[in-house]
Amino acid sequence: MLAPGLAERRQQQLYRSRRLIDGAQDVELQCDGKPLLSFCSNDYLGLANHPALIEAMQQGAARYGVGSGSSHLVSGHSQPHHALEEALAEFTQRPRALLFSSGYMANLGVISALARKQDILHEDRLNHASLIDAARLSEATLRRYPHNDVDALAGRLDKQSDGHPFIITDGVFSMEGDIAPLQQIAAVATQHAATLMVDDAHGIGVIGKEGRGSIEQCNLSMHNVPILVGTLGKALGTFGAFVAGSNELIETLIQHARTYIYTTALPPAVAYATLTSLKLIETEHWRREQLQTLIKRFRNGAQQLGLNITPSTTPIQPLIIGSSGKALHISKQLQQQGILISAIRPPTVPEGTARLRITFSANHSEQHIDRLLAALESVIKRDATQD
Ligand SMILES: Cc1ncc(COP(=O)(O)O)c(C=O)c1O
Repeated sequence: MLAPGLAERRQQQLYRSRRLIDGAQDVELQCDGKPLLSFCSNDYLGLANHPALIEAMQQGAARYGVGSGSSHLVSGHSQPHHALEEALAEFTQRPRALLFSSGYMANLGVISALARKQDILHEDRLNHASLIDAARLSEATLRRYPHNDVDALAGRLDKQSDGHPFIITDGVFSMEGDIAPLQQIAAVATQHAATLMVDDAHGIGVIGKEGRGSIEQCNLSMHNVPILVGTLGKALGTFGAFVAGSNELIETLIQHARTYIYTTALPPAVAYATLTSLKLIETEHWRREQLQTLIKRFRNGAQQLGLNITPSTTPIQPLIIGSSGKALHISKQLQQQGILISAIRPPTVPEGTARLRITFSANHSEQHIDRLLAALESVIKRDATQD
């Protein structure tokens, strides 16, 4: 019964399969038994395999055990969870923060807890799948505006008469790497008394002078962006997510967010290790500076090679290829040259925009970027001569 669907997916070059990583996540890793230089993880600051985090995780496990044993509201809310929530609140300069077990669950939890049937959720067309799924799960109406098109968004809000408007956007877009025009979006939200929610999964730790993310970069505060979602599994190098905002917001989520209430709290040792991530983010500015150096070097080199890069200023530097088959082919050829970059295909990205989602980590060196550029040059040139 399922085989024809799988065969069709394969034939459309959309079949997804997993690679087997052996050993720790880092820029140089072992994949399917071979050493590869990776440019596709979200470990932007190079913390996932940092010795201080490993040590903190070990200490956390020794003190608090492995499992949390239950949900936060039963008996699973332990001291490290609480300390991390307080540290995240301070870091994001908000009164409270609430931990979730993943970013996907945070988005589902927030939107389904806050939006009522008569409300309208205005979402950027390129928002992460979890934000789209969250809207579908809620009873409110989903309206998707063209990517970063503030005028189109304002036009839709002008026409809305019933229900409360929410504006929901990624801070840094996961597949494009560009930053939402948050200042303009916040102004539109104020004009229309709409509630603005920003999912900064790829901004927290990475952008803004202090690493506080796209809200810091755009000089905004909780006043403009009352709902902020951040993840811990990307730049912070661990696992989980959080929502930061007012006391009323957090108390409302504790009462109503089903993905908070009906699930096991994340392991306390993970929360304990994440406290160390936050300290590194606050003290080791060189990680963000290194990312900027790498981005500049890559973009200069890519422009010289005439590669089809987008205007991104973040460590997400997609190379748009077009067809899924071609993106897969290039990814495989790069792998033969020792470079790991997965091909991202529809429905994750719009039809006809399959791409190599290249990402950088503070653990990459400038020599790594040169190796990447040399591999791209040889693979893409060879591909062009075969077209
Ligand atoms: C913008 C955005 N939000 C949310 C998520 C989900 O976060 P998590 O991986 O913690 O579930 C992702 C992850 O890919 C993302 O890119």
